[in-house]
Amino acid sequence: MKNNQRGLFIVLEGLDKCGKSTQTDLLCEALEAKKMQFPDRSTSMGMIISDYLKGKRDIDDQVIHLLFSANRWETKNKIIETLEKGINIVCDRYAYSGVAFSSAKGLSINWCKQCDSGLPKPDIVIYLRAPIKQLKDRGDFGAERYEKQEFQSKVQEVFDKMAQEEQFNIINALQTKEEVFSSIMELVNDYNQNIHTNTIEQLWI
Ligand code: TMP
Ligand code: MG
Repeated sequence: MKNNQRGLFIVLEGLDKCGKSTQTDLLCEALEAKKMQFPDRSTSMGMIISDYLKGKRDIDDQVIHLLFSANRWETKNKIIETLEKGINIVCDRYAYSGVAFSSAKGLSINWCKQCDSGLPKPDIVIYLRAPIKQLKDRGDFGAERYEKQEFQSKVQEVFDKMAQEEQFNIINALQTKEEVFSSIMELVNDYNQNIHTNTIEQLWI
């Protein structure tokens, strides 16, 4: 990272239990980056989302999609300010999760994308990919609303489709924690600095 440049905006995506949170922490440490995550459960909107995910309240599919999206929009200025200060951001989930999870419920992909159109566009999207069959035995899978095998398979189909359209960097999430991390570091180090401009681009415009 050259000194006079804005920070890099890196997003990690994938199914529940794919190791995103662990890898986000490791990458933050390695890049001295600011950690962000969506949903950001600390805001008032984030608390409603968290109650929804824990099954404490039901919310209409379109409404919860808009809340997830609004929860990103409320962080937009912070993302831009951080990058402009030259600080890297590593973010655990972003708008791609919004599209994958809501469209897996049957909402239109285009409608889902429109809600996040204009947000800061990440420089690198890393997709930690593994079939849910092999992830479902990890940790407390099943604790939250979307953690069901059949549903996650549908989510994976959308992530796989987006991976091609949006040029995600796909990493095999079934490797060891150390192997996944070294694959991530390799692709971050290989990131072509020449295509990294000071302009922060807009997503889905
Ligand atoms: P987490 O497990 O990373 O905290 O994410 C919570 C759940 O919310 C996870 O199942 C993915 C889902 N999700 C959406 O449905 N839409 C979104 O926009 C985001 C960011 C997450
Ligand atoms: Mg989860």
